[in-house]
Amino acid sequence: APTRYEAESSPATCAGAIESNHAGYSGSGFCNADNAVGAAAQFTVTASAAGSATIAIRYANGATANRPADVLVNGAVAHSGTAFDPTGAWTTWVTKTLTVPVNAGTNTIRLSPTTAAGLANVDYLEIDAAGDPPTGKQ
Ligand code: GCU
Ligand code: CA
Repeated sequence: APTRYEAESSPATCAGAIESNHAGYSGSGFCNADNAVGAAAQFTVTASAAGSATIAIRYANGATANRPADVLVNGAVAHSGTAFDPTGAWTTWVTKTLTVPVNAGTNTIRLSPTTAAGLANVDYLEIDAAGDPPTGKQ
């Protein structure tokens, strides 16, 4: 089963503010990062084995344009300019799924926006670590 890491919970970091004014988030809030290139949300996650892991990023983008971000794992770009498309409202949260390479043990996963609009609001990151058996229900 995936493990959830909330954006508002240390050791996650948010280059902006943890807020709770748009309903529908998990936990106690979400990361509203500054509207600037490189204003990142970062998660520290544990993987059970090295290899390819599926991550799910829950976000809301109530603006009218995509808020692209590089996804870096342990400092290296794994996905460049990943689209975080508009969701229609800041209270409409959706999940974006990606596959990333991970090391066994601790990894950092950083969402670093590539435009001056900054990130979408980020709720959490879930990781289904490499080595998990297939569940057949995903
Ligand atoms: C609004 C919204 C914020 C959001 C921001 C943005 O201010 O309330 O939650 O982060 O727009 O455009 O980034
Ligand atoms: Ca913002």
